[in-house]
Amino acid sequence: MDKIVINGAKPLCGKIEVSGMKNSAVAIIFGTILTEGKCVIENLPNISDVTDGLEILQSVGAVIRQLTKTTFEIDTTRIIPGSAPFDLVRKMRASYYILGAELGRFGKSKSAYPGGCDFGGRPIDQHIKGFEALGANVVVEGGYIDANATPNGLVANSVYMDVVTVGATINIILAAVKAKGTTIIENAAREPHIVDLASFLNAAGASISGAGTDVIKIKGVSKLHGVNYAIVPDMIEAGTYMIAAAATRGDLYIHNVIPKHLESISAKLEEMGAIVEEFDDAVRVTCSERPLTRVNVKTLPYPGFPTDMNPQMGVLLCLAKGTSTLSEGVWENRFKYVDELRSMGANVNVDGRIAVFEGGTVFSGAVVKAVDLRAGAAMIIAGLAAHGKTEIEEIQHIQRGYEDIVSKLRGVGADIKLISVPSTSMIDAKKAN
Ligand code: EPZ
Repeated sequence: MDKIVINGAKPLCGKIEVSGMKNSAVAIIFGTILTEGKCVIENLPNISDVTDGLEILQSVGAVIRQLTKTTFEIDTTRIIPGSAPFDLVRKMRASYYILGAELGRFGKSKSAYPGGCDFGGRPIDQHIKGFEALGANVVVEGGYIDANATPNGLVANSVYMDVVTVGATINIILAAVKAKGTTIIENAAREPHIVDLASFLNAAGASISGAGTDVIKIKGVSKLHGVNYAIVPDMIEAGTYMIAAAATRGDLYIHNVIPKHLESISAKLEEMGAIVEEFDDAVRVTCSERPLTRVNVKTLPYPGFPTDMNPQMGVLLCLAKGTSTLSEGVWENRFKYVDELRSMGANVNVDGRIAVFEGGTVFSGAVVKAVDLRAGAAMIIAGLAAHGKTEIEEIQHIQRGYEDIVSKLRGVGADIKLISVPSTSMIDAKKAN
């Protein structure tokens, strides 16, 4: 299994480029199913969630051509609904968008229950509520979700989301795009990737308004057409590098961002004493002479502080002077990374959804593992700040969502490398064959 090795305590300095947004890319990839034609999608990040998503599309009949490293032509003229392979779908969370897209285009879909990072339960009751509100019959059994519209197709309806959920908001938009009438989603999620998906679908002929607010209206249309579209930059990748700059007391110019998407992260970093300068499509993060000071952070749906920045911020709270709290407002158990940080010297107490960080930590390098995607990114940040060598295992989690993270960090002065370790265990050897 590959690992990342870092010799830390070096400030990151220079310019780093942000790639396309993972959580927008995976929604738009499956959204192409609705266009029944050829789309050219640009700025797709070169990460395993995207390659897995494209592989699922190919497995159901899409014809995909790679035009550049980050541009793909996707032809969904011929799609066989309900044919996505079980093992592929279970590799990632966003594969369940195939349900909304196939239901929206064909009136039927069948897909394995999705996989994804383990933060405790990852229910899909709100997705099912939305599909049923549009008249579909949904059955979950044997590890599959089977959704079928009535013979006269999906009919628009109003749906009030019991919780703010990105995935269900996206899935209901996908299913409603061609439903008869106007669907209204209330208490909708407002994340930038929902706005990006709506922009893509509208460019393909859909009629969606209100994306980015908590009330989204989708007026059903009869057909969508192929379109060229570029994915927005990844706000969580950008935020990760912003925190890495502060954690290493460096000076990073982070290019290809939408500063508005980063407002909650910039505000927290400034509250801690970092300096954040905004430009049209970039932010620059530097640190004053003073040590970073403690803060309280609460993760919330957008535009609140992103839950996907919880682990990265946890590392910074260890380094800041004073006692900080981090309250997780979205997932029931997003502090699994804390044990790994403790092995590097962190002093953190977790009680349910609240963690208390005793600051002033001087991290020492250790062998740690990436317990999930963003926790893995946090281990990299801790390793960059630590004295000595850090080895990070289970890095396949990191490769799901960070394009070329090792080379990007090397480019700004990090002593970091990716090591391929020949598999030793019988199990690994079996997997490798
Ligand atoms: C998306 O997950 C992201 N993944 C997650 O990012 C992110 O943490 C999350 O949104 C919140 O922003 C992708 O976009 C692929 P939710 P999703 O539905 O859609 C509850 C990353 O690191 N809920 O917004 O699965 C749920 O339990 C990943 O990039 C229900 O109760 O999240 C949670 O408490 C990790 N019923 C809350 O809503 C449902 O039917 C938010 O979940 C659905 C969700």
